[in-house]
Amino acid sequence: MKQTRSSGNEDLLLTVEGISKHFEGVKALDGVNISLREGEIVLIIGPNGSGKSTLIETITGFCREDSGRVIFRGEDITGLPPHLIYERGIARTFQIPRPLKRLTLLENLMIAEKSPGDGIWGSFRRNWFVKEEEVTARAFEILDFLGLENLWDHPVSDLSGGQLKLLEIGRALMRDTKLIIMDEPIAGVAPQLAEKVLERLEKLKNLGIALLLIEHRLDLVLPFVDNIYVIADGKVIASGREEVLKHPDVIEVYLGA
Ligand SMILES: Nc1ncnc2c1ncn2[C@@H]1O[C@H](COP(=O)(O)OP(=O)(O)O)[C@@H](O)[C@H]1O
Ligand SMILES: [Mg+2]
Repeated sequence: MKQTRSSGNEDLLLTVEGISKHFEGVKALDGVNISLREGEIVLIIGPNGSGKSTLIETITGFCREDSGRVIFRGEDITGLPPHLIYERGIARTFQIPRPLKRLTLLENLMIAEKSPGDGIWGSFRRNWFVKEEEVTARAFEILDFLGLENLWDHPVSDLSGGQLKLLEIGRALMRDTKLIIMDEPIAGVAPQLAEKVLERLEKLKNLGIALLLIEHRLDLVLPFVDNIYVIADGKVIASGREEVLKHPDVIEVYLGA
């Protein structure tokens, strides 16, 4: 695997360099550059169809870019399949496979600890060296952190939309995750629970975990955000928290807020 080290960028966790992607004539992404530091909360905003989700799909390996590079912790991860990107420490939330809904919250967290890419040898080694009690203890710690401890033995199908989002954060925490990417984490979540989700997200910062968020509810997320990128027609048209907030017209025009 290629190692990339450019001077002055050592503390960058993620760098997206000139990513482009088209779908049958639609240029979804057109030379997008973004970067994130460790523990930083970065928000991406832009109108519908501007390329936000496609950007996340390419970073997480679910969509292959036409050109450009993705560098994570100094390593070129461009074009790696999703499970290998996940193994390197980028978690993407809110994709609970259906069958897991029948398992309890505790079981869902314990399963997340095991990597699907580890293979037989990996699981053997883990079972040998990692005590089940340790994994259980960690799962309970995380449930506590999320305020879901009372529901530990409930099936996931009992959870509300917001609680499901909290659980997804928990699944990411079971692993050595450095970056969590979320497409609209509080969309459709009741305001009270949305605050709760955001508070937990902010606490992740103290654990050194960075967040890349797409979210329309600016009123709720802005207090937590370190940096903002505005995307329109597949291009970054503004960036920087202060710069973007100094120009309310950017937000108004591009979000219709
Ligand atoms: N799988 C796909 N096939 C064809 N067109 C797509 C696909 N995914 C996204 N697009 C198009 O790419 C553009 C950007 O979409 P998207 O990234 O979903 O925007 P956003 O998340 O900002 O709403 C849109 O024009 C959309 O129709
Ligand atoms: Mg989208």
